[in-house]
Amino acid sequence: MTKKIFSGVQPTGNLHLGNYLGAIKNFVELNNDQENECIFCVVDLHAITVKQNPKELRNNIRETVATFVASGINPQKSIIFNQSTISAHTEAAWILSCVAKMGWLNRMTQFKEKAGKDKEKASIGLYSYPILMAADILLYDASHVPVGEDQKQHLELCRDIAQKFNNDFEVENFLKVPEPLIQREFSRIMSLKDGTKKMSKSEISDLSRINLTDDKDSIINKIKKAKTDPLPLPTNIKDLELRPEAKNLLRIYSSLTNLSLEKVIKTFEGKNFSEFKEKLSQVLSDKIDPISKEIKKLMNDKDFLDKILLEGYQKANDIASDKVKKMHEIIGF
Ligand code: TYM
Repeated sequence: MTKKIFSGVQPTGNLHLGNYLGAIKNFVELNNDQENECIFCVVDLHAITVKQNPKELRNNIRETVATFVASGINPQKSIIFNQSTISAHTEAAWILSCVAKMGWLNRMTQFKEKAGKDKEKASIGLYSYPILMAADILLYDASHVPVGEDQKQHLELCRDIAQKFNNDFEVENFLKVPEPLIQREFSRIMSLKDGTKKMSKSEISDLSRINLTDDKDSIINKIKKAKTDPLPLPTNIKDLELRPEAKNLLRIYSSLTNLSLEKVIKTFEGKNFSEFKEKLSQVLSDKIDPISKEIKKLMNDKDFLDKILLEGYQKANDIASDKVKKMHEIIGF
């Protein structure tokens, strides 16, 4: 059965290993399956829910496209486009915000985390952000949405919104209820400095993450400085429960080598971290360094990147504007 894949990434700079292993690596595999129809969106409207520098934003939009392509997404096979170029997204978001309930949004944990203590000062966009995300997905009748664990709650909200719209207007199946695609083990890559915190682009210390633009030397340096514990590597998975840093590093190794966590544990059991870290740096730089070099090369060819976005816009706009037109008719506009 053809899967209709949709996902988005914010162009806020510093795309990192968490974005890669939790989402982009999966995008590439889905793109490579001939059966699938894939759409990958640079979600710049989501990015402006927190303050952005216009010049940097423009650059980061292109860098996100470059990262998609450098990671292996083929723009001839998948649609890659920039969210703000298609007005149907904001239009559908408004319509859906009249369907969604305040109570549903009040439960969103990401807003609570991002807004921090001073909720009053957060933008309204940051609060209603999951509704825009629902609009993104529902405009394209996506059947499957590959994301990391942190987006799971937003996808559940998207499903609720779709069902409520269909019920309210008595249009069964008009908005397709999407399935999340979350790779259990790698859906939450943690900070290199604290194994209990998510690897994130907003973390101040650059040592906490591997950026997809890092070169070999900085990867080696960051892994060398990554937090560990004083024990040798464990002999079984259960022993990882109270060792978040060891668990995170072993999972990263497992994801990059496509070996099961059990196999990785068997390979390194009883060894000390320095030996394991050397091997981890090697597999990381084998994977990330070529992506990093390719991103830098593509960033010198802005016309190529802009052409991808233009072609993506043309294809995506046909689908999205048709869907929003149907929404207008259903609502009675
Ligand atoms: P964003 O830009 O924060 O992150 C992009 C993708 O990377 C995943 N991710 C992680 N996965 C594992 N470990 C981590 N440490 C980690 N950090 C980030 C995210 O789960 C995500 O899949 N709201 C979305 C963007 C969006 C979207 C959409 C996604 C907008 N519209 C429609 C899917 C469908 C976001 O802010 O992702």
